[in-house]
Amino acid sequence: MNPIVTILDASWRDDADIREEAVSALESGRVLYIPDLGFPVEEDEKRFFDDGFLQLSSKNVSYDPSTGDVRGLKSTQGAGDTDKAALGKLLARYAQFTRDLCAELLGDFAARLDVARTSFRPVEVEGRKARTVGSDDTLLHVDSFSSRPMAGRRIMRVFTNVNPAGKPRVWNVGEPFEDLAKRFVPLMRTPWPGERAALRLLYVTKSYRTLYDHYMLRLHDDMKGDSTYQRTVPLTRVELAAGATWMCFTDQVSHAALAGKYVLEQTFYGDVEHMARPERSPLKVLESMIQRPLT
Ligand SMILES: [Fe+2]
Repeated sequence: MNPIVTILDASWRDDADIREEAVSALESGRVLYIPDLGFPVEEDEKRFFDDGFLQLSSKNVSYDPSTGDVRGLKSTQGAGDTDKAALGKLLARYAQFTRDLCAELLGDFAARLDVARTSFRPVEVEGRKARTVGSDDTLLHVDSFSSRPMAGRRIMRVFTNVNPAGKPRVWNVGEPFEDLAKRFVPLMRTPWPGERAALRLLYVTKSYRTLYDHYMLRLHDDMKGDSTYQRTVPLTRVELAAGATWMCFTDQVSHAALAGKYVLEQTFYGDVEHMARPERSPLKVLESMIQRPLT
């Protein structure tokens, strides 16, 4: 099955059948790709798309739509503050753009999603040195957070390639979640006694790490750490064009970012109970394999 579902921009507006198909495709672990839906960048924002213009303190600039907080820039005075405010405005606009898109494309399903952080990814992925294997996003993985336990909640992400030179974002998409879980979960260790309480006490995690988060983090790390798996698993390579938007559940879709820079991204969280097909969610797939509640 092709993991990419292409949606032509004009075809989905005000069409209830397409809404249902779009939700079903997302929950089946496919990527919705809208090649003709770009995000309008204003003239004075184009400076952020020049190599080396931004003084970054991390690989992404991130924005919290609920507080307006912008992170990821080196703290500077004067011009730096102006850039930070302008980036905040750009990211706030992008957050609204993705909310509007989800409302139109996914209908009622979108109303039950919570808006999380927005990010701008200005650094070229290809050739970027990752500090550890675990932080190397050029390796296939499913998303999970080491410090923010999700307790089964879904991670859906919307991306738009705003590369001014027309360079695509290149992804590999791997096997379905059910298949990778079957491959890795039987080999996994269970948490050490007291391990998750210690992580909480030491402020490594923001709340208690559920068994779900334990298994999702292990999946993330074990996939990345298995070089034979990375070399041999069937892959679909996709070029996500400049001026295109795409979205998927990144906690379910096995993905790797191989090349490209200047991408905007919006994260949404969703409760498993709010899914149209909860049994397809990573939580339910893992619980049925492990035969115990994980949250
Ligand atoms: Fe990822």
